[in-house]
Amino acid sequence: MRIIAIANQKGGCGKTTTAINLAAALSENGRRVLLIDLDPQAHATLGLNIKSEFNIYNVLSKITNKKVRINDIIRNVSGTFDLAASGIILSTLEQELAGEISRESRLWETLKNFKHGYDYILIDCPPNLGILTVNAICAANEVIVPVEASRFSLEGLNQLLDIIGLIRERLSHNVDYRVLVTNFDSRLRHSFKILDYIRSAFQYKLFGTIIHVNVKLKEAQSQGEHVLNYDKYCRGAKDYFSLSREIIVQEKTPAKEETIMPVIEKRIKEAIKRELPKLNESTFSISAPKAKEVHLVGDFNNWKLGKESFMQPDNGIWKKRVSLDPGKYHYRFVIDGEWTDDPNNPQKATNPFGQMNSLIEIKKNDADNN
Ligand SMILES: Nc1ncnc2c1ncn2[C@@H]1O[C@H](COP(=O)(O)OP(=O)(O)OP(=O)(O)O)[C@@H](O)[C@H]1O
Ligand SMILES: [Mg+2]
Repeated sequence: MRIIAIANQKGGCGKTTTAINLAAALSENGRRVLLIDLDPQAHATLGLNIKSEFNIYNVLSKITNKKVRINDIIRNVSGTFDLAASGIILSTLEQELAGEISRESRLWETLKNFKHGYDYILIDCPPNLGILTVNAICAANEVIVPVEASRFSLEGLNQLLDIIGLIRERLSHNVDYRVLVTNFDSRLRHSFKILDYIRSAFQYKLFGTIIHVNVKLKEAQSQGEHVLNYDKYCRGAKDYFSLSREIIVQEKTPAKEETIMPVIEKRIKEAIKRELPKLNESTFSISAPKAKEVHLVGDFNNWKLGKESFMQPDNGIWKKRVSLDPGKYHYRFVIDGEWTDDPNNPQKATNPFGQMNSLIEIKKNDADNN
């Protein structure tokens, strides 16, 4: 029996979509699957249209006067796919557990004593690294980390890996993780660039399957169904079916011990640190075939001309990549000493000298800014 937590503190990266549709696909392959909704937002419960008077809070809480056993909250979704529901009340468990010893293993203790015939238990986590996510990782043997193919997707990931590492070392709990690329839009050149960075950071810790953007996944969720019921032949259904096959193959060849060696972990974390700035880069460019020297200046480099502001020529097009955090920035080009705004960017604002600055805005979930 395998227990798999689906975790990433980043909101909206596809945790619930993965939990629901992977559970459905594993079930389609004849596996018996329980999905535990451990998110107080209860998106998995709502997304599968499951109604239950009691939920996982009533199972895990020791102070509720409506205590129930996990079997009491399990509902059948379809075939061999069951769900243990969540509800907003679960958010109060955080405070309840605050002062408790072994607060991180409350879910594990419940599952340890749970007699069942499941092949897989999946756990959908909330978008934070609080006690619920920690409980899920402590109960799991594996963690799937969904990562969107968009800018800033690797941000904060080292924190999650640190927590997995801590749980492994301090609690001697053998838990491994793998990254799953979600929301991949093959129409965007930028997506491939991001995929390259993610591949170079995680290498074999990455699932071969990629989950593409597919509106049917969204539609299915809003209709209270998993995608295999909603549209068995759509891209989303095929992707999650392929993910389930990849996971099932591992039943015979479990992850090797060496895959969780600290030295490899260290290499991955360093790679993330290295790749992160590249991932958040924006490319600036201007055509100036006759220019001898072109600079890019803006409030991101304090308008300073120097070694750092030099642009690189490429067949008459001058380019520069700059790593930018989300926010609004003013910038200009300096072509052989002459200041000019960006002719290809209609976003402009007047500066204190009465000239025009060009404007760029980097949004938190920017998929493609170049
Ligand atoms: N591959 C996809 N293609 C299209 N839409 C998707 C895809 N994956 C997820 N979505 C949609 O994006 C939204 C966020 O996805 P989801 O709820 O799975 O993320 P999450 O990580 O669980 O979010 P939260 O952190 O709030 O729990 C949902 O509306 C979902 O339907
Ligand atoms: Mg969710």
